[in-house]
Amino acid sequence: MNTEHITELLYQALETEKGGIKIYEAALKCVVNDDLRKEWQEYHEQTQNHERIVRELMEKLGIDPEKETPGREVVRHIGESLVAAMEMALAEAAEREAAELVACECVVLAETKDHLNWELIHEVAEKAKGQTREALKAAYEEVEEEEDEHLYHTTGWGRELWIKSLGMPAVLPPPEEEKEVKTAIGAARAKMARKESL
Ligand SMILES: [Fe+2]
Ligand SMILES: [Fe+2]
Repeated sequence: MNTEHITELLYQALETEKGGIKIYEAALKCVVNDDLRKEWQEYHEQTQNHERIVRELMEKLGIDPEKETPGREVVRHIGESLVAAMEMALAEAAEREAAELVACECVVLAETKDHLNWELIHEVAEKAKGQTREALKAAYEEVEEEEDEHLYHTTGWGRELWIKSLGMPAVLPPPEEEKEVKTAIGAARAKMARKESL
C-alpha cells in the first residue's frame, strides 16, 4: 500500500470534518423544517466528534494533524465555497425555503466526500496490519454508520423538499429517515417506495 497516500487521505478526512462543522453551522441558519433542524443539529455534534476521532487517529499513527498539504487545501477551499454558497442564498433568496434547498444540496456534496473518506479508511484498515489496523478499525467503527445517515438521509430531505417546492406531494420526513437507511441499496429502495408512502 502507498503510505504517503494513506496519510494524505487522513489529512483530507480531517479537513472534511473541520469543513463539515462550518457547513452545518451555515446550513442551520438556512433550515426551515423543524425535523430537519433537529437532524442537522445532531449531525453537527457528530461531526465535531468525528473531527476529534480523526485527530486522535492521526496522533496514534504519528502523523502531525497541523501539517498543510495541497490536497487538504483543496478540500478546505471546497468547504469554504459551500459555506459561501449558503450565505449567498440566505442573503439573496426571496424565500427562506430556497436557501434551505441550497443548504440540502451543499450538505449532500460535503457528505459525499465525507462518506467516501470513511469508506476508503475502512478499505485501508482491512488491508493494514497490527496497530495501524486496530487504530483505523476503531475509528471507522465509531463513525461509519453516522456517515451513512448524514449522506442518505440528507439526500432524501433534499429530494422531498424540492418536490414540495415544485408543488407536488412530498414525503416528509423522507422515507430514508423513516426506514433508518444506512446503505446505498436501502436508499434506492426507500426512494422507490416513496410513492407508496404518499
Ligand atoms: Fe463526518
Ligand atoms: Fe458526515
